[in-house]
Amino acid sequence: MRVALLTGGGDCPGLNAVIYAAVRKGINHYGDEFIGFLNGWRGVLENDSVPLTLENTDGIQLRGGTILHSSRTNVKKIPGGLDKAQEVIKANKIEALIVLGGDDTQSVTQYLCENGIQAVGVPKTIDNDISGTDATFGYDTAVSIATEAVDRIHTTADSHNRVIVIEVMGRDAGWIAYASGVAGGADVVLVPEKEIDIDHVCALLKYNYDHGKHYGLVVVAEGCHLPEEGQVTGSQQVDSFGHVRLSGIGEALAELIEKKSGYETRSVNLGHTQRGGVPTAYDRLLGQRYGLHAIDMVHQKKWGRIAVLRGVDITDIPIKEAIATNRRLDQRFFDVIHDLEAKV
Ligand code: F6P
Repeated sequence: MRVALLTGGGDCPGLNAVIYAAVRKGINHYGDEFIGFLNGWRGVLENDSVPLTLENTDGIQLRGGTILHSSRTNVKKIPGGLDKAQEVIKANKIEALIVLGGDDTQSVTQYLCENGIQAVGVPKTIDNDISGTDATFGYDTAVSIATEAVDRIHTTADSHNRVIVIEVMGRDAGWIAYASGVAGGADVVLVPEKEIDIDHVCALLKYNYDHGKHYGLVVVAEGCHLPEEGQVTGSQQVDSFGHVRLSGIGEALAELIEKKSGYETRSVNLGHTQRGGVPTAYDRLLGQRYGLHAIDMVHQKKWGRIAVLRGVDITDIPIKEAIATNRRLDQRFFDVIHDLEAKV
């Protein structure tokens, strides 16, 4: 078959591992031919693609980012977008599309499938919040990076007797904050699923200072709501899927904590460091398993379905199901955070 791949939305360590495995199995086992559309759905609209071969994908599974580049392009919102996409896919004689992306990118895959395009999906996000799958690749790498940062901040916070607030990514769900906060031994872990209670945060920090630990670490997810201000945005600009750019809650929270508690407080925003660099071994392996499953889905004509991890198995579900809601932290994870907190 002639198959096209594309990567859409925020990049994620492990994307190249998916591309590598799908191309390798497709060529070696099925005799497929591949192209990659560049810059996500934009490459489809602009008919911008490159051939993908065993040679030019060799070794890419070790690299972060995406060799196909990415964009947030909403074909549904672009006048004539559907016609253009159909025309380019036909002109390139593409019989199947493998789309690597999060819920926004996959909402376009779903739309194209409803309009006759043969496509399957692979879930992607460091936020780990896609429904129906136990893990997305990129999440493990992001958690490792964030945990290392939290680890490092302990000593400088201790030296200066300070509170330091560490802002991590996580737009709708607090998976990164939960994992890096707990693994990194933060005193306070704040996730978007729960309202922030500043008095409680300050009480938890006071416990440290009253018990001989003269510093405190707070991990906060970018998507958390402050009691009065709500979410903190880095810019009022909205992307083509209607999302504002979140950033700055760490700094805003640090100011509130300092004002309320009197403890000197600083903040650091880990931002895109969490998405950069080489994927962990776990993400390389998970990405390759998703890639192998995706090319099998193509040959089984599982159009409109997305690969998912269930326990230790890779299987697939309808894209519609995966994008219907976000997978968020629930009581089991809130209990872990709560049970590790100081008793105040
Ligand atoms: O969706 C993944 C994510 O990393 C979010 O956590 C974050 O809000 C967003 O992407 C940042 O996107 P951008 O790279 O466009 O600023």
